[in-house]
Amino acid sequence: MWPDRRILDLLGLDLPILQAPMAGPVDSEMVIAVSEAGGLGGLPCALMTPEKTRTELGIFRQRTSRPINVNFFCHKQPEEDLARETAWKKRLEPFYLELGLDPAAPAPRSARAPFDEQFCGIVEEFRPEVVSFHFGLPDSALLDRVKATGAKVLSSATTADEAVWLEQHGCDAIIAQGAEAGGHRGIFLTDDLANQPGTFALVPQVVDAVKVPVIAAGGIADARGIVAAFVLGASAVQIGTAYLFCPEAKVAAPHKAVLRSAKDDHTALTNVFTGRPARGIVNRIMREVGPLSDLAPAFPLAGGALAPLRAKSEPQGSGDFMSLWAGQAARFGREMPAAELTRTLAEEAQALLSSFAR
Ligand SMILES: Cc1cc2nc3c(=O)[nH]c(=O)nc-3n(C[C@H](O)[C@H](O)[C@H](O)COP(=O)(O)O)c2cc1C
Repeated sequence: MWPDRRILDLLGLDLPILQAPMAGPVDSEMVIAVSEAGGLGGLPCALMTPEKTRTELGIFRQRTSRPINVNFFCHKQPEEDLARETAWKKRLEPFYLELGLDPAAPAPRSARAPFDEQFCGIVEEFRPEVVSFHFGLPDSALLDRVKATGAKVLSSATTADEAVWLEQHGCDAIIAQGAEAGGHRGIFLTDDLANQPGTFALVPQVVDAVKVPVIAAGGIADARGIVAAFVLGASAVQIGTAYLFCPEAKVAAPHKAVLRSAKDDHTALTNVFTGRPARGIVNRIMREVGPLSDLAPAFPLAGGALAPLRAKSEPQGSGDFMSLWAGQAARFGREMPAAELTRTLAEEAQALLSSFAR
């Protein structure tokens, strides 16, 4: 029924739809729903403690025998850079004063943790069918242990060169993440954002550059995007922003509100929330400090100094100081349960594919 079965067969899926692991809004509730519907649920662990990761995986394994994708960031923890941290706090000081916060109070540390020994132990314990990484791959010793569990390994490439690197380092399939994508860019071979290709240009060039199957991501939110991805040579799609509209998504109220009215030109790439570029709906802090700032400390440290601003303003319903991650196709979001969305997207893509065959 699908023009390309390689990802279906490799990952044991009925439908070629991967729900993007989205650190923050996604927990086991959505992952179970998507995997049960025949797609692949993705559990994001970047903001979870090892204990929380173990709990969420336990819930998943208890509730379904379908496959799961467990996702980790694999950045290197940066060196402390006191001068940069101080300059960043100074830049944010006017906002602290406006909100009645003490700029001299020590900033909390960002909770984003890279894949490490402890997380690897959890992978060995729960043996997820799929493990995916963002920002490249972990050290070979850890990666070998993941592969020894039998897990299929995926990672995001934002250029064809990154895709080739990932294939050479052992990825079983590549997620080609176009510039339209919401959330963090998986970019890892360079930090030059100026030449990042969009999904339409990226996917066929990645398909030509590697032998492993390719999963298209970025700006795909309806049947047209799914079918286009297949035509470009992808074997499946990974969809993020469209799943933020599901009741299972734990999206903060100000974020949900702006998602509902988002249009194609409402997002930008910004580094002010974490230190790494990510796509989100433009808000006050992005406008006034970024969207890209040379002062932002290295990933993930930039987020620490923003946390008190968010904590103070969010209860008032303000989204001024929080990340509002979204891709360029947020407008196609539909508010329906994740299982229904997965099945509906697949049915609509099938119908569109067969209309071409007639
Ligand atoms: C709210 C949000 C959080 C995200 N968090 C992660 C993450 O934790 N790990 C990851 O690999 N990708 C993450 N991404 C990126 C997605 O994997 C994917 O590349 C992107 O959602 C695809 O583009 P789309 O949002 O236009 O569908 C996130 C995206 C969003 C929108």
